[in-house]
This record gives sequence, structure tokens and C-alpha cells, in this order.
Amino acid sequence: MKVGIIGGTGLYEMEGEAIVVETNYGDVEMIFFEKHDRQIFFIPRHGKKHKPAHSVNYFANIEAMKNAGVEAIIATSTVGSMKKEIKPGSIFIPNDFIDFTRRKTTFFDDEAVHIDMSQPFCPIIRKILFEEARKQSIAHEGVYVVTQGPRLETKAEISMLRNFADVVGMTLFPEIVLAREKGICYASLCIVSNFAAGLQEKLDIEEIKRIYENKKRVVLSIIDGCIKRLPEERKCDCKNAADKGRI
Ligand code: HPA
Repeated sequence: MKVGIIGGTGLYEMEGEAIVVETNYGDVEMIFFEKHDRQIFFIPRHGKKHKPAHSVNYFANIEAMKNAGVEAIIATSTVGSMKKEIKPGSIFIPNDFIDFTRRKTTFFDDEAVHIDMSQPFCPIIRKILFEEARKQSIAHEGVYVVTQGPRLETKAEISMLRNFADVVGMTLFPEIVLAREKGICYASLCIVSNFAAGLQEKLDIEEIKRIYENKKRVVLSIIDGCIKRLPEERKCDCKNAADKGRI
């Protein structure tokens, strides 16, 4: 199985050969390398100059993964915690999400394809990722709410959102949906970089960066452990999502 890694804030580089993959949404530069007898394709989500979450070319990134033959994506990101017990510096592996963005959502603009989202993360990869995360760090699981950004949330927004979700971030959506539409398994590894608005004095971007830098080695090691254990053949239903959702 070919594996894709999408690097979030702080994970901009991996060692390997730079390749360019064409897509209908523009060319995408990826890094290719081999690890544990697997072919790995890496894309820094935000590009070299750190495009903000609402300007990321999610469509090009996911189509490039598909065109490269990737069957499973592990994506990293930073998130804010909305729960006291989920502390900055811990790892969060989401098992569901809520979309609060105003972003374009689908590859299927001209045909009715309603993909099933009752299990938005690949159950097999997500489980392996959570097990690996727990071996190496304090790790939690739960619901990720996606906000539009680039501004951070208000206190009132967080006091509403925390009733329904555990962490807040800006990049999971539409990436996760586009991957499923292309039949690619997807799981997300989040670094909790702060408490969300109102739950800590103020949000300091330098502090978010510091936490990410401190966690980088652990994140790479969790990904490595996960790549080792990924099955060669996919037994989940992710690859059939579009066909099953087509009217
Ligand atoms: N809100 C939204 N996105 C984030 C946060 C946050 O508090 N922390 C890291 N990404």
C-alpha cells in the first residue's frame, strides 16, 4: 500500500526526492521516499510559505495523492482543546468531526454523490494510529470541530462548540471528505497546542509553535510506528464510498 503523509503546522519537510504531480487544480510538489518497504508521499499542507487554512488547495493536495496511487493518508495538524482534561502537549486522534467552515466541499459538482460520513475516519488506520499514539504520549480521542479561520474563535463560540466537540482546528475539513470521495483511507494525528479561547488567558502563537516543535519527534515516531503496521490490503470500505453514494 502506498502511504500519504500530509504535514500540518510545523511539519514542512521530510527527507526524500522532490516530485511534481499534475492535478486539475494545479501542480503539487511532493516528497517521495521509501520506509519499511512502503512508498511514502509527503505534502506539507500549507506549502513552503505557510498558506493559511482557508487558502490551502485541499483539492489539489488530495487529487495529487490519488494520482500518485496513495491508498491511505495520515494527516497531522495542531488543535486547541475545549476540555480541561485534554491538555496542551498531548496528542488527539479524532473519531468524528463537525464542519463549521464555509468552504467548497466536494469533487462532485455535476453529479449527486452522497458519501457516507457515519464513520468519517478509516476505522482501521485510526485505530492503529491511536494505539501507536498511546504508546508514545498521552493521547485522547473524540470530536474535532473545524472552524473557518484565519481568526481564532471568540469565547462565546467556544462555550457553544465545547458542548458538542472536544477540540477545535481549521484544517480537517474539507480534506477528510475529499479523501473519502477519492476512495483514500484517512486518519488524523493532532497535536494539542493550546486551550481554546476563554479557557486560557490569551492565545499566544509563539506558544503554539513551541509546543509543536517539542512534539515533532514524537509525532514522527508515531507516524513511523503506524506505517510499519498498516495492512498491505485494505479491508475497510473507504475505497467504495463514491460508488456507494452515487444516485
Ligand atoms: N482554534 C483553532 N485552530 C487552532 C487552535 C485554536 O485554538 N489551536 C491550533 N489550531
